[in-house]
Amino acid sequence: MYFDTHAHYDDKQFDADRVALLGRILPENGIELIVNIGSSMQTSREAAALAVKYDYIYAAAGVHPNEAEEYDLDELERLAAHPKVVAIGEIGLDYHYPEPSREVQMAAFCAQMELAVKVKLPVVIHDRDAHEDCLRVVKDFCRKYPELRGVFHCYSGSAEMAEEIVKLGWSISFTGVITFKNARKTREAAAVIPAERIMIETDCPYLSPEPNRGKRNDSSNLRYIAAAIAEIKGISLEEAAKLTTDNGRRFFGILT
Ligand code: NI
Repeated sequence: MYFDTHAHYDDKQFDADRVALLGRILPENGIELIVNIGSSMQTSREAAALAVKYDYIYAAAGVHPNEAEEYDLDELERLAAHPKVVAIGEIGLDYHYPEPSREVQMAAFCAQMELAVKVKLPVVIHDRDAHEDCLRVVKDFCRKYPELRGVFHCYSGSAEMAEEIVKLGWSISFTGVITFKNARKTREAAAVIPAERIMIETDCPYLSPEPNRGKRNDSSNLRYIAAAIAEIKGISLEEAAKLTTDNGRRFFGILT
Protein backbone atom coordinates (compact mmCIF):
# COMPACT_ATOMS: atom_id res chain seq x y z
CA MET A 1 0.00 0.00 0.00
CA TYR A 2 2.79 2.49 0.92
CA PHE A 3 6.03 3.13 -0.97
CA ASP A 4 8.91 4.57 1.09
CA THR A 5 11.01 6.09 -1.71
CA HIS A 6 13.98 7.08 0.48
CA ALA A 7 15.19 5.13 3.51
CA HIS A 8 18.53 4.21 5.10
CA TYR A 9 18.11 0.74 6.65
CA ASP A 10 21.88 0.25 6.42
CA ASP A 11 22.16 2.76 9.31
CA LYS A 12 23.57 1.35 12.56
CA GLN A 13 20.49 2.59 14.41
CA PHE A 14 18.74 -0.43 12.84
CA ASP A 15 21.37 -3.02 13.83
CA ALA A 16 19.32 -4.40 16.72
CA ASP A 17 16.01 -4.89 14.87
CA ARG A 18 16.72 -4.62 11.11
CA VAL A 19 15.81 -8.25 10.45
CA ALA A 20 12.52 -8.03 12.37
CA LEU A 21 11.58 -4.71 10.76
CA LEU A 22 12.38 -5.61 7.17
CA GLY A 23 11.39 -9.26 7.41
CA ARG A 24 8.05 -8.90 9.16
CA ILE A 25 7.03 -5.63 10.85
CA LEU A 26 7.09 -3.29 7.85
CA PRO A 27 5.23 -5.63 5.45
CA GLU A 28 2.64 -6.17 8.22
CA ASN A 29 2.24 -2.39 8.39
CA GLY A 30 1.35 -2.02 4.72
CA ILE A 31 4.80 -1.15 3.40
CA GLU A 32 4.76 -2.44 -0.16
CA LEU A 33 8.04 -1.03 -1.50
CA ILE A 34 11.20 0.65 -0.20
CA VAL A 35 14.14 2.21 -1.99
CA ASN A 36 17.18 2.06 0.28
CA ILE A 37 19.38 4.99 -0.68
CA GLY A 38 23.17 4.94 -0.69
CA SER A 39 24.99 7.95 0.72
CA SER A 40 28.60 6.72 0.60
CA MET A 41 30.46 3.94 -1.22
CA GLN A 42 29.95 1.57 1.72
CA THR A 43 26.22 2.33 2.17
CA SER A 44 25.69 2.02 -1.59
CA ARG A 45 27.09 -1.53 -1.37
CA GLU A 46 24.92 -2.24 1.68
CA ALA A 47 21.82 -0.85 -0.07
CA ALA A 48 22.38 -3.19 -3.01
CA ALA A 49 22.85 -6.13 -0.61
CA LEU A 50 19.54 -5.35 1.16
CA ALA A 51 17.82 -5.21 -2.22
CA VAL A 52 19.16 -8.66 -3.06
CA LYS A 53 17.96 -10.03 0.28
CA TYR A 54 14.38 -8.64 0.28
CA ASP A 55 11.99 -8.77 -2.69
CA TYR A 56 10.22 -5.51 -1.88
CA ILE A 57 13.41 -3.49 -1.33
CA TYR A 58 15.23 -1.70 -4.16
CA ALA A 59 18.41 0.35 -3.96
CA ALA A 60 20.04 3.57 -5.13
CA ALA A 61 23.81 3.93 -5.45
CA GLY A 62 25.45 7.29 -4.94
CA VAL A 63 27.66 9.47 -2.77
CA HIS A 64 26.15 12.24 -0.65
CA PRO A 65 27.80 15.69 -0.82
CA ASN A 66 29.10 15.29 2.76
CA GLU A 67 31.16 12.30 1.51
CA ALA A 68 32.03 13.94 -1.83
CA GLU A 69 35.74 13.19 -1.56
CA GLU A 70 35.34 9.41 -1.76
CA TYR A 71 33.15 8.74 -4.79
CA ASP A 72 34.32 5.96 -7.10
CA LEU A 73 32.59 6.17 -10.48
CA ASP A 74 33.73 2.75 -11.66
CA GLU A 75 32.28 0.96 -8.65
CA LEU A 76 29.08 3.04 -8.76
CA GLU A 77 28.66 2.04 -12.38
CA ARG A 78 29.12 -1.64 -11.48
CA LEU A 79 26.52 -1.30 -8.69
CA ALA A 80 24.13 0.52 -11.05
CA ALA A 81 24.20 -2.45 -13.42
CA HIS A 82 22.33 -4.58 -10.88
CA PRO A 83 18.63 -4.88 -11.89
CA LYS A 84 17.45 -3.86 -8.40
CA VAL A 85 19.53 -0.68 -8.34
CA VAL A 86 16.95 1.76 -9.66
CA ALA A 87 18.57 5.21 -9.22
CA ILE A 88 21.78 7.15 -8.71
CA GLY A 89 21.69 8.87 -5.32
CA GLU A 90 21.67 10.48 -3.09
CA ILE A 91 23.81 13.12 -4.79
CA GLY A 92 23.76 16.90 -4.72
CA LEU A 93 24.99 19.86 -2.70
CA ASP A 94 24.93 20.58 1.03
CA TYR A 95 26.11 24.02 2.12
CA HIS A 96 25.03 23.56 5.74
CA TYR A 97 28.61 22.78 6.79
CA PRO A 98 31.72 24.34 5.23
CA GLU A 99 33.38 20.97 4.44
CA PRO A 100 33.82 19.42 1.93
CA SER A 101 34.35 22.57 -0.11
CA ARG A 102 31.74 23.65 -2.62
CA GLU A 103 34.17 22.86 -5.45
CA VAL A 104 34.67 19.28 -4.24
CA GLN A 105 30.90 18.80 -3.83
CA MET A 106 30.20 20.24 -7.26
CA ALA A 107 32.72 17.91 -8.93
CA ALA A 108 31.21 14.82 -7.28
CA PHE A 109 27.65 15.98 -8.05
CA CYS A 110 28.30 16.61 -11.76
CA ALA A 111 30.32 13.41 -12.23
CA GLN A 112 27.47 11.34 -10.75
CA MET A 113 24.89 13.19 -12.87
CA GLU A 114 26.94 12.20 -15.92
CA LEU A 115 26.97 8.62 -14.67
CA ALA A 116 23.16 8.64 -14.34
CA VAL A 117 22.87 9.77 -17.96
CA LYS A 118 25.29 7.04 -19.02
CA VAL A 119 23.51 4.22 -17.17
CA LYS A 120 20.03 5.62 -17.95
CA LEU A 121 18.83 5.82 -14.34
CA PRO A 122 16.98 8.64 -12.56
CA VAL A 123 18.77 10.68 -9.88
CA VAL A 124 17.87 11.37 -6.25
CA ILE A 125 18.94 14.90 -5.33
CA HIS A 126 19.99 16.06 -1.86
CA ASP A 127 19.78 19.86 -1.70
CA ARG A 128 20.43 21.49 1.66
CA ASP A 129 20.89 25.25 1.77
CA ALA A 130 22.03 25.08 -1.86
CA HIS A 131 18.81 25.63 -3.81
CA GLU A 132 20.19 28.04 -6.38
CA ASP A 133 23.27 26.00 -7.32
CA CYS A 134 21.37 22.69 -7.33
CA LEU A 135 18.67 24.01 -9.62
CA ARG A 136 21.26 25.56 -11.94
CA VAL A 137 23.15 22.26 -12.30
CA VAL A 138 19.91 20.34 -12.84
CA LYS A 139 18.70 22.78 -15.48
CA ASP A 140 22.05 22.65 -17.30
CA PHE A 141 21.92 18.84 -17.39
CA CYS A 142 18.29 18.81 -18.53
CA ARG A 143 19.10 21.14 -21.40
CA LYS A 144 21.90 18.84 -22.49
CA TYR A 145 20.11 15.56 -21.67
CA PRO A 146 16.32 16.09 -21.85
CA GLU A 147 15.74 12.42 -21.04
CA LEU A 148 17.34 12.74 -17.57
CA ARG A 149 14.81 12.45 -14.72
CA GLY A 150 15.20 13.12 -11.03
CA VAL A 151 13.58 13.85 -7.71
CA PHE A 152 14.39 16.53 -5.17
CA HIS A 153 14.24 14.53 -1.95
CA CYS A 154 13.21 15.95 1.44
CA TYR A 155 12.02 19.01 -0.41
CA SER A 156 12.79 22.25 1.40
CA GLY A 157 12.64 24.88 -1.35
CA SER A 158 9.93 27.37 -2.25
CA ALA A 159 6.68 26.80 -4.14
CA GLU A 160 8.16 28.75 -7.07
CA MET A 161 11.21 26.48 -7.23
CA ALA A 162 8.92 23.42 -7.01
CA GLU A 163 7.06 24.65 -10.08
CA GLU A 164 10.34 25.03 -11.97
CA ILE A 165 11.34 21.48 -11.02
CA VAL A 166 8.10 19.92 -12.25
CA LYS A 167 8.35 21.92 -15.48
CA LEU A 168 11.55 19.96 -16.18
CA GLY A 169 9.53 16.74 -15.88
CA TRP A 170 11.05 16.03 -12.47
CA SER A 171 9.42 14.97 -9.19
CA ILE A 172 9.42 16.15 -5.60
CA SER A 173 9.49 14.01 -2.50
CA PHE A 174 8.32 14.96 0.99
CA THR A 175 9.46 13.66 4.38
CA GLY A 176 7.97 13.95 7.87
CA VAL A 177 8.98 17.60 7.82
CA ILE A 178 5.68 18.26 6.02
CA THR A 179 3.87 17.40 9.27
CA PHE A 180 5.84 19.92 11.36
CA LYS A 181 4.05 23.01 12.59
CA ASN A 182 6.60 25.40 11.07
CA ALA A 183 6.61 23.75 7.61
CA ARG A 184 4.12 26.12 5.95
CA LYS A 185 6.47 26.70 2.99
CA THR A 186 6.82 22.95 2.37
CA ARG A 187 3.04 22.47 2.43
CA GLU A 188 2.66 25.37 -0.03
CA ALA A 189 5.07 23.63 -2.40
CA ALA A 190 3.03 20.40 -2.19
CA ALA A 191 -0.15 22.39 -2.85
CA VAL A 192 1.04 23.99 -6.11
CA ILE A 193 2.59 20.98 -7.87
CA PRO A 194 0.60 18.30 -9.74
CA ALA A 195 -0.34 15.28 -7.61
CA GLU A 196 1.33 12.99 -10.18
CA ARG A 197 4.77 14.41 -9.29
CA ILE A 198 4.61 13.83 -5.53
CA MET A 199 6.45 11.01 -3.80
CA ILE A 200 6.74 10.35 -0.07
CA GLU A 201 9.65 9.07 1.99
CA THR A 202 10.74 8.70 5.59
CA ASP A 203 14.50 9.36 5.17
CA CYS A 204 14.63 7.05 8.20
CA PRO A 205 16.20 6.76 10.73
CA TYR A 206 15.96 10.57 10.61
CA LEU A 207 13.06 13.04 10.45
CA SER A 208 10.19 11.22 12.21
CA PRO A 209 6.88 12.91 11.43
CA GLU A 210 4.48 14.22 14.04
CA PRO A 211 3.31 12.67 16.36
CA ASN A 212 6.59 10.72 16.63
CA ARG A 213 8.96 13.63 16.07
CA GLY A 214 12.32 13.14 17.80
CA LYS A 215 12.11 9.33 17.94
CA ARG A 216 13.92 6.96 15.58
CA ASN A 217 12.00 6.86 12.33
CA ASP A 218 10.99 3.86 10.21
CA SER A 219 8.72 3.27 7.21
CA SER A 220 5.66 2.52 9.36
CA ASN A 221 5.48 6.30 9.95
CA LEU A 222 4.83 6.86 6.24
CA ARG A 223 1.07 6.97 6.91
CA TYR A 224 1.45 10.34 8.66
CA ILE A 225 3.18 11.81 5.62
CA ALA A 226 0.54 10.32 3.30
CA ALA A 227 -2.13 11.84 5.57
CA ALA A 228 -0.54 15.28 5.22
CA ILE A 229 -0.52 14.93 1.40
CA ALA A 230 -4.14 13.73 1.49
CA GLU A 231 -5.18 16.82 3.44
CA ILE A 232 -3.29 19.23 1.16
CA LYS A 233 -4.66 17.65 -2.02
CA GLY A 234 -8.20 17.09 -0.68
CA ILE A 235 -8.17 13.32 -1.18
CA SER A 236 -8.55 10.32 1.13
CA LEU A 237 -5.63 8.61 2.89
CA GLU A 238 -6.15 5.53 0.68
CA GLU A 239 -6.04 7.68 -2.44
CA ALA A 240 -2.87 9.43 -1.24
CA ALA A 241 -1.23 6.07 -0.53
CA LYS A 242 -2.12 4.74 -3.98
CA LEU A 243 -1.18 7.97 -5.73
CA THR A 244 2.27 8.22 -4.15
CA THR A 245 2.94 4.50 -4.65
CA ASP A 246 1.99 4.70 -8.34
CA ASN A 247 4.12 7.84 -8.76
CA GLY A 248 7.10 6.11 -7.17
CA ARG A 249 6.70 2.97 -9.28
CA ARG A 250 6.61 5.06 -12.46
CA PHE A 251 9.57 7.18 -11.39
CA PHE A 252 11.82 4.24 -10.49
CA GLY A 253 10.50 1.97 -13.25
CA ILE A 254 9.21 -0.67 -10.81
CA LEU A 255 6.16 -1.77 -12.75
CA THR A 256 5.59 -5.38 -11.66
NI1 NI B 1 18.68 10.47 2.85
